[in-house]
Amino acid sequence: MRRWNRYTDEMDGVTSADEMEVRRGGDFSAAFALAEAAGLEVSADATEPLVLWSAWDGEHMAGVVTLDEDAGLLVVGWIAVAEPYRGRGLGERLLRAAEHEARERGEGTLWATARAPGFFLAMGYELATAGEEQEALLAGCRDCPQRGVTCRPQAVRKELEARTG
Ligand SMILES: CC(C)(COP(=O)(O)OP(=O)(O)OC[C@H]1O[C@@H](n2cnc3c(N)ncnc32)[C@H](O)[C@@H]1OP(=O)(O)O)[C@@H](O)C(=O)NCCC(=O)NCCS
Repeated sequence: MRRWNRYTDEMDGVTSADEMEVRRGGDFSAAFALAEAAGLEVSADATEPLVLWSAWDGEHMAGVVTLDEDAGLLVVGWIAVAEPYRGRGLGERLLRAAEHEARERGEGTLWATARAPGFFLAMGYELATAGEEQEALLAGCRDCPQRGVTCRPQAVRKELEARTG
């Protein structure tokens, strides 16, 4: 049974992104609830991702990012920041944590199926050109009721610069 009690977006004051703890791991149920509340298409049968990073304001989960595999590609799965915390750099902190981990794993490219492409473009991603990867990443959106209504998904990618030292 899912537990919902560790996520809330009913906050009186908002802690800045820099003050929050961003850590690897976190309660998957809370992450699921946060992603769902943020409007992401999350399936009730969603399985735990490869990697989850979460941001915490005290005991409240304020944001989440996951890394997963899709069609053999390493992808950003969910990225979501609870509404009161948006626009303060938390999404960027989370994405950078995921990118760091991808780099540590020796990945050269990180992919995403972006429902908010503007965020990813601001973060240095580029639109994927037509091809096998783009088709594979958008395949799951084909029958989604949100497609073209609340979501205009784009496949995006970022080349991760190699680690030095
Ligand atoms: C997308 C989301 C994760 C961004 O989180 P956030 O904490 O508000 O983002 P940040 O404050 O770190 O923004 C970083 C940059 O991205 C830009 N940005 C953020 N959201 C954006 C959007 N929807 N469209 C265009 N640019 C966006 C910001 O302007 C900022 O740019 P700057 O550095 O030039 O000022 C958050 O809005 C969210 O959870 N949305 C609902 C769920 C969702 O759509 N997830 C994305 C799935 S692809």
